[in-house]
Amino acid sequence: MHKLSFRHLRAVLGAVKVVEFTNFRQERRFSHFINKDLIIKESSSVELLKAHAFIWNRMFSFINSMSLRCAIQLGIPDAIHNHGKPMNLPQLLAALPIHQTKAPFVRRLMRILVHSGFFTVEKVSEIDVLEEGYILTNASRLLLKDHPLSVAPFVLGILDPIVAKPYHHMSSWFQNDSPTAFHTAYGMNIWDYTCHEPKLAHLFNQCMESDSRLVSSVLMKECKQVFDGIEKFVDVGGGTGTVAKAIADTFPHLECIVLDLPHVVADLEGTKNMTFLGGDMFDALPSADAILLKWILHDWNDEESLKILLRCKEAITSKGNHKKGKVIIIDMVMRNKNESDDDDQSVETQLFFDMHMMVLLTGKQRNEEEWAKLFCDAGFSSYKITPILGLRSLIELYP
Ligand SMILES: C[S@@+](CC[C@H](N)C(=O)[O-])C[C@H]1O[C@@H](n2cnc3c(N)ncnc32)[C@H](O)[C@@H]1O
Repeated sequence: MHKLSFRHLRAVLGAVKVVEFTNFRQERRFSHFINKDLIIKESSSVELLKAHAFIWNRMFSFINSMSLRCAIQLGIPDAIHNHGKPMNLPQLLAALPIHQTKAPFVRRLMRILVHSGFFTVEKVSEIDVLEEGYILTNASRLLLKDHPLSVAPFVLGILDPIVAKPYHHMSSWFQNDSPTAFHTAYGMNIWDYTCHEPKLAHLFNQCMESDSRLVSSVLMKECKQVFDGIEKFVDVGGGTGTVAKAIADTFPHLECIVLDLPHVVADLEGTKNMTFLGGDMFDALPSADAILLKWILHDWNDEESLKILLRCKEAITSKGNHKKGKVIIIDMVMRNKNESDDDDQSVETQLFFDMHMMVLLTGKQRNEEEWAKLFCDAGFSSYKITPILGLRSLIELYP
């Protein structure tokens, strides 16, 4: 548990300054190399071509994403799964909904998907060495349409052209005064756009429901105790209620309220102990022992997040003079590369998510220092971070 105090924050801010100073010194140390003639003369052809190949690799990274999207849309993971054993290319071709003229190209799509880790190739026959078949990996098993925790809707949502379009407006956004690249692309923020564009609203809900099924499954398995002693909780920005329903079903004595924008919850029906409420998280919230903010604060900048946290603090029920409840946050706690044992891929994925929040919304991913400052500014006294959700953490925040 981390007690929040100004000394804690000073220590944190002091540490940040040291890092900036170090970077500055490094930049100065290398500055005399930034000379065009010197670079051209000093670089060997090997170095030049290595740098060139590096750029090509990064430039084409989107092909991994697009090949993955195509595989899900064609139902490739499901076809291989349904086959029940390694599936060779002719068998795969026979099972896929493709035009006959495209059959020769499937092998190339499969080759890159094998390379990027979505499938592996296994020998089918001991007699015929050429006979090989595709099998699923742990990653592609999570893409099966019928998998209860399928991530396929999330992938399709994130990679939809509507969501990808703002990336083409990123440099314009850097040069204009619009709040987000999404706003530059569509002339309104994402919440207004989902209100007017049923296709995006549907994609977005599918995306969130898919993620919420996975998170609730881990949450209920690994840290149910977080909900011990709670009688009433509100899932603020709870979308279509997937997480709240999992909690309400596990704790039938709990009274749960899912608060989201009126158009999101308009036609949704609750259950015995779960109700939907249309509202605005920047206005007063219903009182409760616990408030859940899953994937909410990363949508908003510090000023907006502070307002939300203040509303949460006001809503937490008091016992005598003491506030007894807590805010439960599910979000990323970004780790700095040099201070974590995370692999490069996890660090990069957190950076991707941070960019995604910048492009679509006014939000950001925060490291522990940034979270601590936000909590302290909102007047909370302590917090506890439990990193049990992969790239995300569970944070309990106490008034
Ligand atoms: C990233 S989604 C998270 C949904 C859900 N908590 C989950 O993780 O599946 C953010 C949610 O905040 C809701 N939202 C946005 N602005 C809101 C506001 N002003 N008041 C209430 N809900 C809002 C959106 O409709 C959306 O459901």
